[in-house]
Amino acid sequence: MNYLENLDKSKLPKHIAIIMDGNGRWAKQKGKNRLYGHKNGTKSVRQVIEGSIEAGIKYLTLYAFSKENWKRPSKEVEGLMNLLISSIESELEELHSNGVKLNIIGDMCRLSDKVQNKVKIAIEKTKNNKTLNLNIALSYSGRWEIVEAVKKIANDTKNGTLSIDKINEELFSDYLETAGMPDPELLIRTSGEQRISNYLLYQLAYAEFYFTPLLWPDFSKEDLYEAIFIYQNRERRFGKISEQIKN
Ligand code: FPP
Repeated sequence: MNYLENLDKSKLPKHIAIIMDGNGRWAKQKGKNRLYGHKNGTKSVRQVIEGSIEAGIKYLTLYAFSKENWKRPSKEVEGLMNLLISSIESELEELHSNGVKLNIIGDMCRLSDKVQNKVKIAIEKTKNNKTLNLNIALSYSGRWEIVEAVKKIANDTKNGTLSIDKINEELFSDYLETAGMPDPELLIRTSGEQRISNYLLYQLAYAEFYFTPLLWPDFSKEDLYEAIFIYQNRERRFGKISEQIKN
């Protein structure tokens, strides 16, 4: 089945979030080291960016490195950071010419100066692009993000720029890393694991979850289209009953 042709363009998820899992297992199956898996994972990153543009998705958020991932062996952490730098170097021109606006969500302060500088240059260069908003979650965790939002709100309340009666769900969203963006409507996780691993905890409240046994380096744009197709054939009720949605 050609999933792209069969997508309903009027019912596309505005925002797709992905947990790219299974690089290590993919490499192990091939008798290679974990970094070989991550390197091949970048091909799938390319695939989902291209696929999102071709399908007309406006926001794509990829979980590249969690706060918990800092606990991995230092060689793997270093390899992942180098991969990020080299990916930005090799892909930036093409991303830019395809209208991709890059954004990072996460605790940037923990990243090395080298990574921070590369990222800042890429963000600045692509800041006026409109085709696809690409968020890379780097040194990110959902609980950290929520706690940071609470601290900022407490501070604004204390210094008098925010009154307590103005605090509601929308305002809270504006204090998150994804301020101004629609919430993800579809979450994809590869590799057969079925958990959200501290990812976008506030924003995923009403997202549809799609789990696939495919390991991340095997995930292609066709698999992305299939996930969107399945999402479009689910009934999203937002707490209502089926008849209310159909009417
Ligand atoms: C999870 O697989 C994957 C990661 C922690 C890193 C994801 C990084 C990339 C796909 C490449 C770089 C990204 C960009 C945006 C250029 P795992 O290592 O947990 O796999 P396992 O569960 O099989 O061990």
